[in-house]
Amino acid sequence: MKDFRFDLDHVREQFPCLCKTVNGLPAAFLDGPGGTQVPRSVVEKINDYMFYHNANAHGCFVTSLETMALQQEARETLAAFFNCSASEVIFGESSSTNNFKLVFAIARDLKEGDEVIITDIDHESNRSPLRTLEERGIIVKSVRVDLSTYTLDMEDYKSKLSDKTKVVAINWAANANGTITDVKPMIELAHKVGALTIIDAVHYAAHQVIDVKDIGTDFLVTSAYKFFGPHMGVMYAKHETLEKIRTLRVLADDNTMPPEKFETGTPNFEHICGCAAAVDFIADIGKRHEAYFPEELKGLSGKRKDIVAGMLAIDAYEAPMAKKLRTELAKIPGLKLYTSPEGLPKTSTVSFTIQGRNAHDIAEFLAARGIFVWDGDFYAIEITNHVLKLEEQGGLLRIGLAPYNTMEDIDRTIEAVEDFVKQ
Ligand SMILES: Cc1ncc(COP(=O)(O)O)c(C=O)c1O
Repeated sequence: MKDFRFDLDHVREQFPCLCKTVNGLPAAFLDGPGGTQVPRSVVEKINDYMFYHNANAHGCFVTSLETMALQQEARETLAAFFNCSASEVIFGESSSTNNFKLVFAIARDLKEGDEVIITDIDHESNRSPLRTLEERGIIVKSVRVDLSTYTLDMEDYKSKLSDKTKVVAINWAANANGTITDVKPMIELAHKVGALTIIDAVHYAAHQVIDVKDIGTDFLVTSAYKFFGPHMGVMYAKHETLEKIRTLRVLADDNTMPPEKFETGTPNFEHICGCAAAVDFIADIGKRHEAYFPEELKGLSGKRKDIVAGMLAIDAYEAPMAKKLRTELAKIPGLKLYTSPEGLPKTSTVSFTIQGRNAHDIAEFLAARGIFVWDGDFYAIEITNHVLKLEEQGGLLRIGLAPYNTMEDIDRTIEAVEDFVKQ
């Protein structure tokens, strides 16, 4: 794309946290894969709800009516984010909780000997609920990772699928190392054998455009706190699939249909408002950058168009910084990157180890210079600890980009890692 210029000043001025300093140095928030920072508009929306509209739903008085209207508005905004209809948007406590609720509902109709497929590259949030079914005689198979590319082994996936497979759970992007998986053909194969599909887009959502209609999945989970929102989960559930599932619900008459049949208890209305404001923040970025993406935006209109443009702009801004990070880090003696080869799809998340050094020590060294990064397994336990066997050396060091980061953050980080290796 020609002459792309990201409106960085406009983005950065919306994050009050960016004024933070550590030991006299500006904070570099490279911890996004654990949760991004939150723009002012999201916090203001949450406050506004709590101050002026706070009530429970289903009353006939004004604050209750406003609460329901705000909840519906938020469903419509998230529907534009996922490319689905509002009744297919489900709000919940977290993606892990949504996954457990989903799997336990599906499992009511599974029997001993049925099979489910998970993957070695996934977060435990997307594996543990299905692994728990082993105690009921359900067979759990995990797709291996090709360690020459850090991508899923498609032949292994195909060999594990059969007409016994009832559920397939795959992440769209791996939070451990940023690998993006081409989930669409995997979903098609799963549907051919009659399996339901659960896509974990928790890491993916902050970096790439989600289009649930295009990939055709039954379910997709993500978490608003990974894309500038509050700590909560939000999920897509295909209407016709959710209609059939026997969800775990309070036995009342007003929660028998999607989406309410999945949402147990009083919703967290303030966070739902914040979640929609986070998507509006992305849409606002989109409005400022639409001219750069005429081809990609063809046929789109309204909020969906703004959101798609926003995600494309975020990716276009982050990709060169991530590439510089990968290129320069790879030159450091003893440093090993765990990213897929250049040219394969990946998010702007970069993970590495340094021979003979503990990942936690690197993170502490960077933290003292105001550079915030994550170390450990990030609950991607199978790939980090069991496949790569990195537990003893503290797992991976993970650097994650967000649209408020700068090339200066990247340069400082590279320099700090070089200095760490020298000492
Ligand atoms: C890829 C991925 N899946 C699932 C989760 C769990 O999300 P939540 O904290 O909302 O349960 C995370 C959190 O880090 C994640 O990165």
